[in-house]
Amino acid sequence: MTSRERFLAALHRQPHGRPPVWVMRQAGRYLPEYRALKAKSDFLTMVRTPDLAVEVTLQPLRRFAQLDAAILFSDILVIPEALGVGYQFREAGGIQMQRALSSEADLATLQITGAAGRLQYVYDALKLLRQELKSQKALLGFAGSPWTLACYLLEGGGSEDFPRTKALVKSNPQFLHALLRILTDVVADYLTQQFKAGADAVQIFDSWAGVLSGTDYETFSLRYLRDILAKLPVGAPVIVYAKGKSAQAGALASTGAACLGVDWTMPLSQVRALAGRPICLQGNLDPEFMVGAPALAAQATQAILADNAGDPGHIFNLGHGITPDAKIETMEAVLNTVLAAGV
Ligand code: CP3
Repeated sequence: MTSRERFLAALHRQPHGRPPVWVMRQAGRYLPEYRALKAKSDFLTMVRTPDLAVEVTLQPLRRFAQLDAAILFSDILVIPEALGVGYQFREAGGIQMQRALSSEADLATLQITGAAGRLQYVYDALKLLRQELKSQKALLGFAGSPWTLACYLLEGGGSEDFPRTKALVKSNPQFLHALLRILTDVVADYLTQQFKAGADAVQIFDSWAGVLSGTDYETFSLRYLRDILAKLPVGAPVIVYAKGKSAQAGALASTGAACLGVDWTMPLSQVRALAGRPICLQGNLDPEFMVGAPALAAQATQAILADNAGDPGHIFNLGHGITPDAKIETMEAVLNTVLAAGV
C-alpha cells in the first residue's frame, strides 16, 4: 500500500494497517535545510515562487521517509493579501497586516473580484508537487477559516486574544458578517482550485476558534465552514481543525468534514464519542513533546495510539504546528513509533 493510499483510506475509515502520519505547519523551521534556504530568500518570496515553495514542501519528506503526506508550503494570509491587505513579520516575531479593517466602509477597499485567481502561484506549486509525488504520497492544500482570517484583518496582525475582533462580535455583528461572507466565497473558490491543481485533501485552519464562546462560535464560524464545505466538489475530503473546540466535535462533524484535526487538550477517544458519527480524527500529540527527550515523546505517541484503539479513522499528527526548537531525533522517535504500530 502506498502512503497516499494509506492516507486516503484513513480519511474514509477503511482498513489500512498503521495510521498515516504527517506534521503540520512550519514543518521546516526546525530543519537546517529550511534555514539555509531562508538565508537566501525571504519567506514571502518562497511562498510566491512555485519552485521554491515546492522545494520547501519536499524538505521534510526527503529527511523523513516515514511521512505519508506533504502539506503545501504557503500561508493562510495569502488570502488577505489577494484581497489587497498584505502581511509581513514583526521584528519581535508575529504577524503585522498592512492595515486593519475597522468599518463597513473599509470593505469597499477590498479587491474581491478575481481574488482567488490572483493565487495562481499556489495552484502552480500544487501541480508541480503532484508531479513530484506521483501517486506515492498524499498532497494537502489548506486555507484559513473565514473567522480566523477575519481575526487578522480586523486586529491588523497577530494577537493573543484578538480583543478588537471579539468586541465587534457584540458591537457590530453586521460588519463582521459582511466580511465573513466575503472571505467564505474566496476561501471556497481557493480550495476548489487547490483540488483541481491536484490536492488529495485540504485542511481548514480555524486556529482562533477558541476566541469565540459557544453560541457565538456557531454564528460567526461554524455556519461559514458549513457553507464552504457545501460549495466544494462532492467527495473532496476536508480536514477541519478548530483549536480549542474539541468539546464541539459534534457540531464540527456536522459541517460534513471527512476528518477533524484535534489539538492536544482532549483524548481522541473522547472527541470520537462527542463527534456523534463515525469520522476520521487527526492528531493529537502536544508539540511540546518535540522539544524534549525522544523516549518521552515515543511514550506519549504510544498512549495516543492505544487510546485510539485501532480505529481505522486516524491520521497521526501533532495537535498544532511544530516549533522551531523541535529536535530532529525526537521527530524520528515519534515517526518510528507510529510506523511500528498496527499490522
Ligand atoms: O508545514 C508547513 O510549513 C505548511 C505551511 C504552513 C505555514 N503556515 C508556513 C509558515 C501552514 C499550513 C501555515 C498555516 C498558518 N499560518 C496558520 C494556521 C495554523 C496554525 O498555526 O494555527 C496561521 C495562524 C498562520 C499565520 C502565521 N504564519 C503565523 C502565526 C506564523 C508564525 C509567526 C511567528 O513569528 O512565529 C507564520 C509564519 C510561518 N508560516 C512560518 C512557516 C514555515 C515560519 C516562518 C519562518 O520563521 O521562517
